[in-house]
Amino acid sequence: MNVILIGMMGSGKSTVGKLVAKKLNWEFYDSDQSIERQEQMSIERLFKKKGEKSFRALEKKMIRNLSLKDHSVIATGGGAPCFQENWDSFSKNGFVIYLKAEPLSLYKRLQKSSSRNRPLLKGDRLSKENISKLLAERKSYYQKAEMVLENDALSPGQTAARIVRAIKKLRGESL
Ligand code: S3P
Repeated sequence: MNVILIGMMGSGKSTVGKLVAKKLNWEFYDSDQSIERQEQMSIERLFKKKGEKSFRALEKKMIRNLSLKDHSVIATGGGAPCFQENWDSFSKNGFVIYLKAEPLSLYKRLQKSSSRNRPLLKGDRLSKENISKLLAERKSYYQKAEMVLENDALSPGQTAARIVRAIKKLRGESL
């Protein structure tokens, strides 16, 4: 079984994912980072050089490969759940968790973090309005997750602890 983390940019997938993997003693993979390593190029440069369409094709391939793993926590890019092929991969061996946060929380977190990796919300594009718009477009895809975890008021550690509890319960392990 794998844990697949989905959600908007700034929802904490990578930070929380690393903590969950550590607590479960599982491997952690970040699909964006794996693509960057494979292509020897930042996501930002990939978008610029090859366009979003090429990035989405690489993302689909990467998610398909990562989904073959076991006992792994996989953080996906914010746009990945918008494509059915990625759900086909997720559902092979994955328990999908949506890290849900309000636009204002996402905005605050994204302002603090680097805009590297996030060409869709870079510079002038980083606004509450754009985040709300993107979230409205993606909501129905994100809601397909098996577990929805609202983390506006939770620290990454608290979010990770809730996920670990849910996974252990699911696997019938003692808490
Ligand atoms: C994207 C999110 C990014 C990255 C790319 C596109 C999106 O990942 O995959 O910039 O479409 O939401 P994070 O969600 O990890 O920031």
